[in-house]
Amino acid sequence: MSKHAITIMAGVIVALAAVLAFRGLAGRPPAEGPEIVMPRLSPEQIAGREAFQTYCVECHGERAGGTDSGPPLIHPFYRPGHHDDQTFYAAVSTGVRAHHWTFGDMPPVENITVDEVTAIIAFIRTVQRANDIY
Ligand code: HEC
Repeated sequence: MSKHAITIMAGVIVALAAVLAFRGLAGRPPAEGPEIVMPRLSPEQIAGREAFQTYCVECHGERAGGTDSGPPLIHPFYRPGHHDDQTFYAAVSTGVRAHHWTFGDMPPVENITVDEVTAIIAFIRTVQRANDIY
């Protein structure tokens, strides 16, 4: 085999490895969610975003795009028909046993009011809709 052919083959192998590595990364939930579309928010939804930043962002990430400690909530799993608003109130007050992902359990969220949870749900639902999650 000529030196030239070996160089081409090495190039092909490197390119394939790069494609596989990229696909591996793309399959994981994003650490941040910069690609999540952020719609215009009403005053209640802005209050919800602020409460989300206080109580949920550590695990569910900026724009609810997920982190290494928790899943994205802007995700088809959490559309209203699959996880209705009641599951949000329950998740916050009693926590969640790991079942959809491998991040571990979600602990109950302390010192949060029902109104804050209501506003967080309003915020999450509007961001879901802006990202075609119904
Ligand atoms: C310490 C990390 C952590 C914090 C803080 C946290 N969560 Fe979670 N949450 C998780 C993890 C992990 C899961 C995924 C459990 C699974 O299904 O595997 C989860 C799942 C959920 C679910 C899905 C519930 C279900 O029934 O499947 C909802 C809704 C949710 N979180 C809302 C919130 C809201 C709202 C806040 C803030 C008020 C919050 N979380 C704060 C870690 C966290």
